[in-house]
Amino acid sequence: MTPAIQNAALRELGLNMVNVALHVTADNLESAVEGARSLGFLGLMVTIPHKVAVIRHLDMIDESAEIMGTVNLVQFSHGKAIGYNSDGYAARRSLEESGIEVAGSRMAILGAGGAGKCLARRFAADGAISITLLNRTVDRALSVVREIKPTDQQRISAQPLTEEVLAALLPETDVLVNATSVGMVPYADETPVPKRLLHQGLVVYDIVYNPLETRLLREAREVGAVAVDGVGMLAYTNERAVQICTGSTPSVELMRQVCVEELHRRSLHG
Ligand code: ATR
Repeated sequence: MTPAIQNAALRELGLNMVNVALHVTADNLESAVEGARSLGFLGLMVTIPHKVAVIRHLDMIDESAEIMGTVNLVQFSHGKAIGYNSDGYAARRSLEESGIEVAGSRMAILGAGGAGKCLARRFAADGAISITLLNRTVDRALSVVREIKPTDQQRISAQPLTEEVLAALLPETDVLVNATSVGMVPYADETPVPKRLLHQGLVVYDIVYNPLETRLLREAREVGAVAVDGVGMLAYTNERAVQICTGSTPSVELMRQVCVEELHRRSLHG
């Protein structure tokens, strides 16, 4: 998805640059980073499963990567490889677009895998007033929560992802974030939260973009809640990558549009 949307933005900026998708195995990660540096690449966007492993091959990481504990962008600058993480920024901007400030919000995050962990750390740093991290395997959520140092005003806790916990928690929640894989293709007919537990006062954010409208988001809209989809995550991650690596600011609107078109094209043609 990234080459399609980023190349449209690079073309619009008139930059003689291109984004290509390269498959790198874990065995070749170090040589891939060194090769890209030697070949004069401006940067690398890094995805699963390399987001943590890449760190030891870098010269430094900035605060965004420090907070998240993972890197999704490497910039080569004056011979140095610098790690960043724009996932948290992208999530915050996606919420802001729908008029939601993370600071002061009561958040429930579903999922304590790579994505849930990063978002919990980022939203805590951005000043959410409370964060409850819910996971099917509660121990995983507990270990994420233990690593976050809350301020005196913050409450950060872990709970099992059950209907009883959700029923008690959601009436006291402003923003519900789904960072589990429930609802993603090929499980698109599933939802992590029964519809009857959703309510009008909620903002429901699903970081998944495949499908664009998950069952969770569709049911959230049906009960009158604000639904935020995963396209912003992709668009803002690419915005940061282009900004950091080229110094130019690409059009988020264009990238969003190309992303939606591409998703429709893929769903029609498989
Ligand atoms: P990612 O890096 O995208 O977060 P991951 O690390 O594999 O991927 O995490 C997947 C998340 O989805 C986990 O929180 C997982 O819960 P467990 O830690 O209990 O495995 C959650 N998940 C996956 N399938 C699920 C299901 N059927 N019901 C509830 N949670 C599920």
